[in-house]
Amino acid sequence: MAKTTETRELTEVSEAQIAVHWKEEGYYQPSEKFKAQANMRDPRILEKFGLDRFPDCFREYADMLTWFEPYHTVLDTSDAPFWKWFVGGRLNASYNCVDRHLEQYRNKAALIFVPEPEAEPDVAIKYQELYTSVNEVAALLRDMGLKAGDRVTLHMPMVPELPITMLACARLGIIHSQVFGGFSGQACGSRIHDSGSHVLITMDGYWRNGALIDHKANADIAVRTAQDLGQHVEKVLVWQRYPGAYSAQTPMVPGRDFFVNDLLKDHKGKKVEPVALPSEAALFLMYSSGTTGKPKGAQHSIGGYLSYVTATSKWILDIHPEDTYWCMADIGWITGHSYIVYGPLANAATSVLYEGVPTFPDAGRPWRIAERLGVNIFHTAPTAVRMLRKLGPQEPRKYKYHFKSMTTVGEPIEPEAWRWYYDEVGKREAVITDTWWLTETGGFLGTTVPAIHAMKPGSCGPGAPGIHPVVYDETGAEVPKGSGKAGNICIRNPWPGIMQTIWGDRDRYIKTYFAKYNKSPRSKDWRDWPFMCGDGAVQAADGYFRILGRIDDVINVAGHRLGTKEIESACLTVPEVAEAAVVPVQDEVKGRVPEVYIAVKPGVQPSQDIIDRVVKANEEVIGKIARPKHVYIVPDMPKTRSGKIMRRVLAAISNRRDVGDVTTLANPDVVEQIRTMVQGTQATTTHEELPEDIAKFGQVE
Ligand code: WTA
Repeated sequence: MAKTTETRELTEVSEAQIAVHWKEEGYYQPSEKFKAQANMRDPRILEKFGLDRFPDCFREYADMLTWFEPYHTVLDTSDAPFWKWFVGGRLNASYNCVDRHLEQYRNKAALIFVPEPEAEPDVAIKYQELYTSVNEVAALLRDMGLKAGDRVTLHMPMVPELPITMLACARLGIIHSQVFGGFSGQACGSRIHDSGSHVLITMDGYWRNGALIDHKANADIAVRTAQDLGQHVEKVLVWQRYPGAYSAQTPMVPGRDFFVNDLLKDHKGKKVEPVALPSEAALFLMYSSGTTGKPKGAQHSIGGYLSYVTATSKWILDIHPEDTYWCMADIGWITGHSYIVYGPLANAATSVLYEGVPTFPDAGRPWRIAERLGVNIFHTAPTAVRMLRKLGPQEPRKYKYHFKSMTTVGEPIEPEAWRWYYDEVGKREAVITDTWWLTETGGFLGTTVPAIHAMKPGSCGPGAPGIHPVVYDETGAEVPKGSGKAGNICIRNPWPGIMQTIWGDRDRYIKTYFAKYNKSPRSKDWRDWPFMCGDGAVQAADGYFRILGRIDDVINVAGHRLGTKEIESACLTVPEVAEAAVVPVQDEVKGRVPEVYIAVKPGVQPSQDIIDRVVKANEEVIGKIARPKHVYIVPDMPKTRSGKIMRRVLAAISNRRDVGDVTTLANPDVVEQIRTMVQGTQATTTHEELPEDIAKFGQVE
């Protein structure tokens, strides 16, 4: 992605565009063996999902589900851009992921749980057992008075009780909102408040990096935070990591906190009829960070979402019921919802669920798990690929597993890392799908169809079947493929997996994803509503897209989007801090990490103690994932004359780049002081330009 001075002159770009220069990578072909067994082998598949067949082509996706009532309208655009898919249809997600498989797969494992401590045995949960547990938990929730349309917040780690709880909610039509287990109690509390949940479901503890974490402590903070914001939580249901024992130190609050395992004793063997819900009812909320501190709840539907993740799991991940599939993501992120729980289970897969850190106790762990369980489909993120490569480049060779297909997701993967993934992890046998998509999109947007398209390291491929991406420049003009220019990637058409709205904020939904390129706000024609993904991208002459990263004010840390405003406001909770600015810095393993600049209030002496408290504030308000690489206390922020902080300058300093012309700043001298503080007097600045996402990031002032 870095531009060299040599190539810089080659492409003329207007201000509305971004020039991109890199070497075109060569193609890799799927093996004949893979092609012969693949679920999707029709070379005309993309044409079959061409815009001329839209939206009816997506009937094929809906047909993969079992409906209680058939739908009458494929796509209803009457409330554009709030799309309704498969209207008139009624179905139940829990029925589709569990009940309908019983006849054929009753005694096949649905989930295999691998605890982090290596001495603890795996737990295989058969479809029949999953059915029993989901029904019992649904009975418990129903008898507590919860019903369709209510929201329940989950704050759970990677344990089978999480998908069981999600499916129990889905059985009743309760909208679940799972908050990533690694997020802090405060982050959970603000999401409880936004969703209006009265019930929080959590777990006492879980293993992470060799430590049994007291997770219940977060529940107390979450409830208090929600209360302060005006949302009262009536009940906290606590699963036990070791049933019958309490794995946390934090006391249970009488009358509010209950052990799920105790309550379930009254619901043994109970059955709950899956509720026949409208296709366009909400299945869950998934919060992602936006550009303001307020959490943004992406609302996903039952019929559209479930059909989309089911079909893409089948055709792109190539899941067959006899496969053993392992996605190392966390269920607390959209990848886990779509491609550990809903998509795989709707396909009667055996889905592996690993509790802990991939490199615990060493970088051979994932390959030991793969060998022992016979995993043949593997799915992870570039950050894990980079980490495993760094710590154990030769480890995969020591284990006798064989993957037929592998996926990467979450951030751009460097061709170097891609090749290690292909050569070493995939042993040159496995196909790779590089799947580009977002929380908001429910499932894949850009990817190859693995038996049909060649792979190209660093590029996700063309649009997925029925997804028609387009790159627009700032003025709304199309950036043609093969031009070497990048712009904002948008999707021309709606698709079943697209979010329905931002929970409780219709205006923000329109503003964030559509306003920039919509020309007629009253139009009911989907053609007028391209969906803006918020990524920069370039399309090569072969039609493949390469994603450059986020163009909005969001930092993608190890594949997880963190709002910069959220981080900055966390810093400001330290009373001595007057101003905070956060910028992304390149990181070998995590891709990007936040680096924080703070200015303290007049009269306050800079100290290590303040820095420590800023780090702690980020961990508490957001979670460990937001831990800044460095915190610098600067004498003043570089500012424009109108007083705006110039993050671009800070980003250049943090990334050891030339700061460019700063003479127009209100306080140009401070730039050199900060540069020396960060880079030392022997500065090693390069003139290489910043990667596109960081450069763009800095422009949003
Ligand atoms: C980035 C995760 C390049 C992108 C599913 C997007 C990717 C953001 C890829 C969404 C990929 C995801 N190649 N970039 N294959 N996949 N991204 O909402 O910037 O957590 O906008 O969804 O991750 O992150 P989110």
